[in-house]
Amino acid sequence: MNIVVIGSGGREHALVWKLQQSKLADKIFVIPGNGGTKNNMLFAVDDFRKIKAFCRRELIELVIVGPEIPLANGIVDEFKNTPVMVFGPEKRAALLESSKIWAKKFMQKYGVATADFWEANPDNPEEIKKIISKLKGNCVVKFDGLAAGKGVFVCSSEKEALSAIENIQTKYGEDASFLIEKKLKGKELSILAVTDGKSYKLLQSSQDHKQLLEDDKGPNTGGMGAISPVPFFKEKIKKNIIEKIIEPTMHGIAQENFDYKGVIYFGLMLTSEGPKLLEYNVRLGDPETEVVLPALKSDLLQLILSCFEGNLSDFDLQFYQDHFIDVVLVSGGYPKSYQKGFEITGLENLEKDTLLFQAGTKRSEKKLLTNGGRVLNIVTRGKSLNEARKKVYKECGKIEFEKKYYRKDIGKRN
Ligand code: AMP
Ligand code: GLY
Repeated sequence: MNIVVIGSGGREHALVWKLQQSKLADKIFVIPGNGGTKNNMLFAVDDFRKIKAFCRRELIELVIVGPEIPLANGIVDEFKNTPVMVFGPEKRAALLESSKIWAKKFMQKYGVATADFWEANPDNPEEIKKIISKLKGNCVVKFDGLAAGKGVFVCSSEKEALSAIENIQTKYGEDASFLIEKKLKGKELSILAVTDGKSYKLLQSSQDHKQLLEDDKGPNTGGMGAISPVPFFKEKIKKNIIEKIIEPTMHGIAQENFDYKGVIYFGLMLTSEGPKLLEYNVRLGDPETEVVLPALKSDLLQLILSCFEGNLSDFDLQFYQDHFIDVVLVSGGYPKSYQKGFEITGLENLEKDTLLFQAGTKRSEKKLLTNGGRVLNIVTRGKSLNEARKKVYKECGKIEFEKKYYRKDIGKRN
């Protein structure tokens, strides 16, 4: 079958790599793709008219959506009543990611364990101040809409919280919707599940490293590295998360009768009061995908098709027992301003079993050039996390481009 993957990051390169291993896959196109992917079609990810025309022309049977924007804009709805299967939730269900307030109300309605929250009314600043003062400033201020990870402010004082609100209002307007959430403490992890809207299958646990600097300091980024599985994700914790978060969510999705054949991502924190859900994403996470797909032994395409054929619950999902680690090489200056167009060298020196998922890269004649903030994902595997770590850092040293930067402590937290 001919397939389109939508997106241009390491996640999409990893998707293509995994899909290619399936006997059922014929031609795989990527819209718009990057320097590591072939058959790139340079349309915008939300240009549905062009994407639809392309799918008709190339007899595409399946579209797999990487990023959130096309899902939030209704790409699944757009393809309804066509022969093309689109792996992702319909627009209504994509609100679980595209509106944080809507998602919180869904969690409340279906009894999903999460932090207490208050929907802020921008017309009533006195009430907002009262809430912040009650929490002694220990709160998280979240812009309601999609913000590519830049709409969340974790605060430790009233002053910080008020300046977070100011920041949101400057960026998104005086009447921007936002919420205030109680700040929680604990270790974070991500659980991704494949769902057909009724049943679900969990992929291996994973953990992102969002901050730019070592010891989780500095500004948030799109992700500086990831590991899978997460060492502390033991049976008892898993059972608790399923009971308090995953099952109530899946019940809600079924009750709302969402058309949802796709991935649901649970961003979790393990607190002293048990696991709490921080956020949903309605897609595969990046960089989590770059470790979760290598850990998957089963055929990804068959797994996806089982969602459309109604037999996901019978799918026998298999994983490798190894540990996987991803270190992201970024352009110096990222996530603020950085230069692009530097030549990337040394790829030929990587070990045979090292995986390289490209992100901000592009090909120019015979050269590979940097073309974004997050440039490359280097993924290795080992019998232990420690073994995988040692391998990955040997590999990071082999690749060169001007102003290369990466964190040296990925996978060290646990
Ligand atoms: P979100 O996009 O909602 O997952 O938030 C981004 C990051 O902010 C999370 O990965 C957490 O590190 C942090 N965060 C979000 N909500 C909370 C919370 N209630 N308490 C503490 N940290 C949070
Ligand atoms: N790794 C978090 C995300 O994909 O949003």
